[in-house]
Amino acid sequence: MRSLNAWILSLSLAVPTFAALYTSPSQLPRTVYDYIVIGAGTAGSVVASRLTENPSISVLVLEAGVTNEGVLASIVPFLGPSLAPNTVYDWNYTTSAQSGYNGRTVPYPRGRMLGGSSSINYMAYTRGSSEDFDRYAAVTGDPGWAWGNMKQFMTKIEKLVPPADNHSTAGQLDPSVHSLNGAISVSLPGFPTALDDRIMATTRELPAEFPFNLDMNDGNVLGIGWFQGTLGGGKRSSAATAYLQSGQINRPNLHVLINAQVTKLVKTGIVSGLPSFRGVQFASQKGGTTTTVYGNKEVILSAGSIGTPTILQLSGIGPKAALKTVGITAIVDNPSVGQNLSDHALLVNTYNVKGSDSFDNLFRDSNTFSTSLSQWTSSLSGPFTDGIANHLAFLRLPSSASIFKTVKDPAPGPKSAHYEFIFSNLWVQPGIPVPATGGFMSITTCVISPTARGFTKISSSDPFAKPIIDPKFLSTPFDIFTMKEAVKAVQRFTSAKAWKDYILSPFGALATATTDTIIETYVRNNAGTVFHPTGTASMSPKGAKWGVVDPNLKVKGVEGLRIVDASIMPFIPNGHPQAPIYLIAERAAALIKS
Ligand SMILES: Cc1cc2nc3c(=O)[nH]c(=O)nc-3n(C[C@H](O)[C@H](O)[C@H](O)COP(=O)(O)OP(=O)(O)OC[C@H]3O[C@@H](n4cnc5c(N)ncnc54)[C@H](O)[C@@H]3O)c2cc1C
Ligand SMILES: *[C@@H]1O[C@H](CO)[C@@H](O)[C@H](O)[C@H]1NC(C)=O
Ligand SMILES: *[C@@H]1O[C@H](CO)[C@@H](O)[C@H](O)[C@H]1NC(C)=O
Ligand SMILES: *[C@@H]1O[C@H](CO)[C@@H](O)[C@H](O)[C@H]1NC(C)=O
Repeated sequence: MRSLNAWILSLSLAVPTFAALYTSPSQLPRTVYDYIVIGAGTAGSVVASRLTENPSISVLVLEAGVTNEGVLASIVPFLGPSLAPNTVYDWNYTTSAQSGYNGRTVPYPRGRMLGGSSSINYMAYTRGSSEDFDRYAAVTGDPGWAWGNMKQFMTKIEKLVPPADNHSTAGQLDPSVHSLNGAISVSLPGFPTALDDRIMATTRELPAEFPFNLDMNDGNVLGIGWFQGTLGGGKRSSAATAYLQSGQINRPNLHVLINAQVTKLVKTGIVSGLPSFRGVQFASQKGGTTTTVYGNKEVILSAGSIGTPTILQLSGIGPKAALKTVGITAIVDNPSVGQNLSDHALLVNTYNVKGSDSFDNLFRDSNTFSTSLSQWTSSLSGPFTDGIANHLAFLRLPSSASIFKTVKDPAPGPKSAHYEFIFSNLWVQPGIPVPATGGFMSITTCVISPTARGFTKISSSDPFAKPIIDPKFLSTPFDIFTMKEAVKAVQRFTSAKAWKDYILSPFGALATATTDTIIETYVRNNAGTVFHPTGTASMSPKGAKWGVVDPNLKVKGVEGLRIVDASIMPFIPNGHPQAPIYLIAERAAALIKS
């Protein structure tokens, strides 16, 4: 498994190189721009692309990582999971010991390449619940964040395209809620799996608990629906491919520098009584030469939920006392920087299945792997056009659940979910190689409306040191209750008639997880993350005592600095966050332009 993964990562495609992609600071034609964008990730690429639509605006994007171009595992959908953790495309973070996980630590991947995490993620495209955005509007006091207003940006983001196998998508999504001419290709799975018909049959057999949802991207997430992914023509569509490499990077006013890790923001003066941070210092490695560039109009931080608070803290913007312990004097004392980290806990529930229709042999047998790779290479078709799942489910605890006697429902509203199922036609236990024989299916459960809040903080004044990341997974009564109930719901789901001829047995500790106590032990021993950190530089109303940015995403207490990435979300969304992040970035670009 390890060596197969190394081999997958060594595969590359020949690609043209783009004129304005710089690899060394000595190539930069200048050091002063209108805007400096920090991080060419999911949000940063959108902002850079939209701002440079105006040819008189100059933008420099600084990206710590490498290019995505030619990296086969970032192009072939099925190979995406091999890009992390602990590769050259990853920041290689690990959480601190999680008390909710019996003291275990878990890998905490973040993309470190053009496109950021959108170049390494599992491509689920879920906009979240309309109630997520309505809550953002209520919490910030800015109606511009409400679903009704955000809809206009959906058109700009997404280009619905046929699935790789050109099958009819009638009855699998609602075309009326999609756009045909935005930036990111979105499509349904391009290859059928052994689970598809059985999942649909279960929605008919148990419709009260597991109803079919024609399109969970219309603001109503509840139910089981077909997986919409950021893919098209059999390939991944990322912030890099859609917002940088479909022409934008050839604009003379857009410069992108890779291998450039920002080490701190530099205070350049006082404007309207506030410290101004228009300087950005970076280096390619620990101890390497530093270069400083300047954003005349603004500096935009898009380094993600871990990178952004890390850079702020390194620059003296953060909790004064905590910064002092690592020898940094606070310029702006803001206790919220790095706090309120919110993530989705995950648990993979695995079943042994009959026959050889699961995808497990693709990773076990090099001939099967090569055949599928050749099929992809020659016709962009076959199993390698699929992502991790062909279906997702967003589900609620019943309102009679005992937890609601003591805990207020943390979901943003009655149309939103408490937990999720992700259906995979293979073994997906993170870090554990697939057993030598047998077929598997996995129903991954995730806590979608967690109450736990963690934090991230720098461990040293060395910008190349890894920060402390403590998501506090399953540390609250609501979160552990919900994960246990999700496991029971999986057990009810798989007891439907549709699975009788297919499932042989639950695998591992799931087989004996029959009482609340045993389920809790099973959960705490095996849970991990869906890789969705948010909230570490949250929006709050203008003038609020908490929060890091105002509703226009301007950093509080400073001048000339904005944040556009997952860190500004005041609550984690009801789904996988990339689509909400694209939406936020499109609105942010519009705000900056006006
Ligand atoms: C393995 C994995 C699977 C996932 N699967 C899904 C999924 O299926 N669906 C979904 O919706 N979401 C998924 N996610 C989450 C989603 O991809 C992220 O939430 C989203 O991409 C984050 O966007 P962002 O703009 O906040 O940050 P990112 O896209 O991570 O961008 C941050 C960028 O900033 C750069 N950067 C950071 N620090 C610095 C610095 N100091 N100097 C210069 N550059 C810096 C980074 O290298 C990166 O390019 C997944 C994430 C991972 C890691
Ligand atoms: C992550 O680990 C890989 C593999 O060991 C290594 O090549 C890469 O440089 C590491 N990246 C960082 C940012 O630590
Ligand atoms: C799907 O249709 C496109 C466009 O007509 C075509 O290029 C492609 O080869 C088709 N793919 C398959 C697998 O039939
Ligand atoms: C965390 O977020 C909540 C709102 O959800 C807010 O009331 C609280 O002050 C925040 N904490 C910090 C330290 O910012």
